[in-house]
Amino acid sequence: DGVTVTALRDLAVRLATAAGTLVREGRPERVEVAATKSSDVDPVTVMDRASEELLREMIAAERPDDAILGEEGDDVAGTSGLTWVLDPIDGTVNYLYGVASWAVSVAVVAGPPEPASWTVLAGCVHSIADGRTWSAGLGEGATRDGAPIRSGAPASLSTSLLGTGFGYDAVRRSEQAQVLAQVLPRVRDIRRLGSAAIDLCLLADGSLDLYYERGLNPWDMAAGVVVATEAGAVVTGLRGRPAGNAMTVAGPRDLVPELVTILEAADADGAGDTAGD
Ligand code: IPD
Repeated sequence: DGVTVTALRDLAVRLATAAGTLVREGRPERVEVAATKSSDVDPVTVMDRASEELLREMIAAERPDDAILGEEGDDVAGTSGLTWVLDPIDGTVNYLYGVASWAVSVAVVAGPPEPASWTVLAGCVHSIADGRTWSAGLGEGATRDGAPIRSGAPASLSTSLLGTGFGYDAVRRSEQAQVLAQVLPRVRDIRRLGSAAIDLCLLADGSLDLYYERGLNPWDMAAGVVVATEAGAVVTGLRGRPAGNAMTVAGPRDLVPELVTILEAADADGAGDTAGD
């Protein structure tokens, strides 16, 4: 329908900010878990649902022909070829405990809404507790609170601050701990901040040097990927594959191959698993 990347990005920012305001203002003193998902430690709160409902209503009003893929609701089919990929609260465990790292992540992609085949046109990650807002449009660069950002250029892996995250499944976590044992001795230090969307944005503005995670869902990563790549970072998977559920690695072009080699040797994507991903 001739919509521009700039207009999509502006809408992503409006959506993420509106949902962020709802979540911030509605956070009760004690957050109750409404349900659990993939495992007992994977929470959904009333606010996850309310935030996603608001996003869906706004998209239906402004872009009724677009499809929607959201973490907490049913997929909505569209006719425009564009899909909004929504994480109403990324970092739900932080939200639950009041640790200040949770975000609304909104992206719009062309093509099938899977990391292997999509083109992320625009995205916004709005950090709810402190209001920081990262956004990017394809070919337009990335900003934090309106100011252009560039990803960092650390001299070596050993002087790099690396972000990562863990899934909710116990078996997966013990595998991730083994991979961590290979990576931790080789870097400056590791941060597990609790929101993949924010991690990718911190990578984009140079607050983290490198990032990797296994098991990301499309909504955890869509907005963060366009912010990171537009800020100059490389985002990839292992074994020549694109970033996705099996593995997402992000960082500077000259250091990512070294991290990829370590992760492949540690079978960090479980490519050796017979069960697959
Ligand atoms: C989670 C966060 C976390 C990451 C997990 C995600 P959620 O998303 O992004 O940092 O390590 O893989 O599932 O459950 O808070 O929306």
